[in-house]
Amino acid sequence: MPASDAAAQSVTVRRWRDLKHSKKLIKELDSIFFEASNTKSFASDEARAAFRERWFGRYLEHYPEWAYIALAADGSVAGYLVGALDEASGFEDFASAAQAFPAHLHVNLAPRFRSRGIGADLIEAFVADARRAGTKGVHVVTSADARNVRFYDRVGFKPRAATTVNGSDLVFLGRTI
Ligand SMILES: CC(C)(COP(=O)(O)OP(=O)(O)OC[C@H]1O[C@@H](n2cnc3c(N)ncnc32)[C@H](O)[C@@H]1OP(=O)(O)O)[C@@H](O)C(=O)NCCC(=O)NCCS
Repeated sequence: MPASDAAAQSVTVRRWRDLKHSKKLIKELDSIFFEASNTKSFASDEARAAFRERWFGRYLEHYPEWAYIALAADGSVAGYLVGALDEASGFEDFASAAQAFPAHLHVNLAPRFRSRGIGADLIEAFVADARRAGTKGVHVVTSADARNVRFYDRVGFKPRAATTVNGSDLVFLGRTI
């Protein structure tokens, strides 16, 4: 679809558990996940599958109530948010920072749907539900020099901790709920 058509479409945030989980839907989500990921090549199919499981698949499986899909009017997937309320996000250096911001999330959009506020809509859907569930804070971990740090700042996530893992500078961004 040309970018201009994508920009003209209205996009709605839906709960994962309210959608039919068709092969087409999973395929579109996988393609958004891998496109947005910094890791582009894998030693084997098993390594690729393990990577998908760690950062995406296990959330859909274990925390389906905390997954949201941004759907375009024509039924194509604009993006997704997956998260968990009190499971560690997998960064040992941030265990202490996570005490005040126990929930965490991962959000990604297809390129043609970026920079039109859909990411913020996904975040606010998650935060509203997390607030109702009594969560005190939510965090994301990203690269300190990533462009998305500006996005997170605008939706209320501020730097609370930093570390370096395998030569990459990472930042822990937390939002009080
Ligand atoms: C980050 C993201 C979810 C934000 O959603 P969005 O709907 O595009 O955000 P908004 O329209 O509210 O704001 C635009 C901001 O998004 C971020 N953004 C846009 N395109 C981006 C890209 N290709 N890579 C990283 N961040 C991007 C920027 O911070 C941008 O602000 P800027 O123009 O001042 O740099 C979305 O852009 C995206 O999926 N980006 C690529 C993958 C990513 O970085 N995911 C987060 C991993 S921690």
